[in-house]
Amino acid sequence: DDSITVNSSSGDIVTVLKENKKNYLVLYASQTGTAEDYAKSFAKELISKFSLNVMCTDVENYEYDNLDTVSVPVSIFISTYGEGDFPDNAANFESFLNNIESSDLTNLKFTLFGFGNSTYEFYNGAAKRTLKALKSAGATLIGSYGEADDGSASTDEDYLSWKSKIFDDLKTSLNLDEQEDIFKPSFKYEVIDEKVNGKVALGEPCQEYLPRNKLPFSKEKNVFTGPFNANFPYVAPITASRELFQSDDRNCIHAEFDVSGSNLKYSTGDHLAIWPSNANETVEKFLAVFSLNPDEIFNLTPLDATIKLPFPCPTTIGSVVRHYMEITGPVSRKFFSSLVQFAPNNEIKERLEELSNDKDQFAVEITSKYYNIADAVSYLSNEKPWTTIPWTFLIESLARIQPRYYSISSSSLSEKQTIHVTAVVENIPNNKSGNPIIGVTTNLLRNIQLNQSLNEKISGPSLPCTYDLSGPRNLFEDSKLPVHVRRSHFKLPSNPRTPVIMIGPGTGVAPFRGFIRERCKMLELQSNLKLGKHLLFYGCRNNDDYLYKDEFPEYIEKMDGLLELFVAFSRLPGSEKVYAQDMLKENEEQVLSLMKQGAFIYVCGDAKSMAQAVHATLIDILRRGLQISAAEATEMLKMFKTTGKYQEDVW
Ligand code: 2AM
Repeated sequence: DDSITVNSSSGDIVTVLKENKKNYLVLYASQTGTAEDYAKSFAKELISKFSLNVMCTDVENYEYDNLDTVSVPVSIFISTYGEGDFPDNAANFESFLNNIESSDLTNLKFTLFGFGNSTYEFYNGAAKRTLKALKSAGATLIGSYGEADDGSASTDEDYLSWKSKIFDDLKTSLNLDEQEDIFKPSFKYEVIDEKVNGKVALGEPCQEYLPRNKLPFSKEKNVFTGPFNANFPYVAPITASRELFQSDDRNCIHAEFDVSGSNLKYSTGDHLAIWPSNANETVEKFLAVFSLNPDEIFNLTPLDATIKLPFPCPTTIGSVVRHYMEITGPVSRKFFSSLVQFAPNNEIKERLEELSNDKDQFAVEITSKYYNIADAVSYLSNEKPWTTIPWTFLIESLARIQPRYYSISSSSLSEKQTIHVTAVVENIPNNKSGNPIIGVTTNLLRNIQLNQSLNEKISGPSLPCTYDLSGPRNLFEDSKLPVHVRRSHFKLPSNPRTPVIMIGPGTGVAPFRGFIRERCKMLELQSNLKLGKHLLFYGCRNNDDYLYKDEFPEYIEKMDGLLELFVAFSRLPGSEKVYAQDMLKENEEQVLSLMKQGAFIYVCGDAKSMAQAVHATLIDILRRGLQISAAEATEMLKMFKTTGKYQEDVW
């Protein structure tokens, strides 16, 4: 395993805690970084408020067979992904939970907090399963189980209200004294004279997680050899990219990543993770607000063996802000309250306290304006730089930049070495603060696409942000981005005769393009193949944003009557709004008859309103068609979900 996490003589959790004199353990299982971010700040607060000696680690780093003998309290943060699934890196932990028996954990005291999304069927499933398993093994829950709901956009508030209660419970149950919040760094920070040292890391991609001597590098071939995964993404060339449409406020980019130089494998329906860097404008504003010198070279040394370097060192402030820090997202109230200790004057201190204690006020003044950290800090200080917030605090408090996931729109059968993605670049003007909301990865894709087609005439919306395309990531010359593949459950039925019903408005059509290309390729390879009927319900505004419009006739011809396409237009001039689910209803006889033949149903796109509306439509169709109650139809769809006959890829 990854030895930079544990430089200790042993990967055994009990030994590591003892050797490093830790008296508290925080574990996290994170899919997209949220649980990790909250676990780390929870750990930091335990250190600064209660002087605990906390060890905070990803569950994937240890085995848990001797968890009952840890003899320190354990706080677990776990997110749920997909249909009640554990995060990818929690496989070990999940199998440990599945195998524990009734009195295995009678000495364990724990707290538990889950991150989930209530628009999904098995809401916070992983956390709930963890709770049940630990309790039935005899462990004692301190305080109450907490959970956050991203579906109602209340993650931060849910966490904060759980945290204030759990701190009281911990104080009582562990007899802790609370003191004033004082930041205690986990690293020794040294400024380095550029002339002294050799190599300085400038954000070269994909070296962030592994110690340098462990990088999978072939000296003979002068290339990284992999395996490539979330810990070591592959820097893939973008061999083709084109604009599928553009309008005043949106563009849609089709990009093709060549993975032939890697061992990356995907299968149709998987996701491509793309690792972005921050835009020039965002980086510059951040540096200015905190009065940071981007060229300062520094080194970090962890203060004990359980602490992991967040990025390769020595490095520069500028590279860290650009390539490793999540600085574009909305600022949280959790982060705000940790700033109080650094207020430059009383007036700002009072404002910070007011905003971090009053969630409604925070929502009005900060959240509703989509302020990121730099925006919020400069708003509070009347646009003056804020020099009292230490850079070391920012290093430890800001989340790591995370990859963005896209449903793959190619088929692994027809495009073995190339992965296609379909991304809408939306730049939503934000009238409240004057700052548009800018998608960091989608705009990066668009910058690269424009770079590749410099000779073409560029029209459409102007670029809201630019990137360092010639820096150490060398995006300009090579048009490359770090990527890895995330497996998904979104898969075509293995029997080709099974009918398929696909519903995907907007970019929700992406994986279905992959599915259809897969079927066309199968027919090409095996001309006597018996294929079931395939229906695609697609929705767009009008003919301008009709994605892959010129490709569909070819697919329909190739599939020879076995593919039927229903297109709903929501903004055709002079016509009424029609959505994909309206067409589903209009064709309910055919839909029902395919369902009776065991059709697989797939929904891709917006989780909140679209997927729910489609779900309601299906219930309606089943209810009427089978003469059953709505409750029975709901139960039936739930069964379909459990057995994989009804699959969602929604966000
Ligand atoms: P709109 O014109 O109302 O935005 C892709 O974004 C397509 O999905 C658009 O045509 C959009 O319509 C449509 N859409 C928006 N909300 C939807 C919903 N709840 N169900 C289905 N389609 C929806």
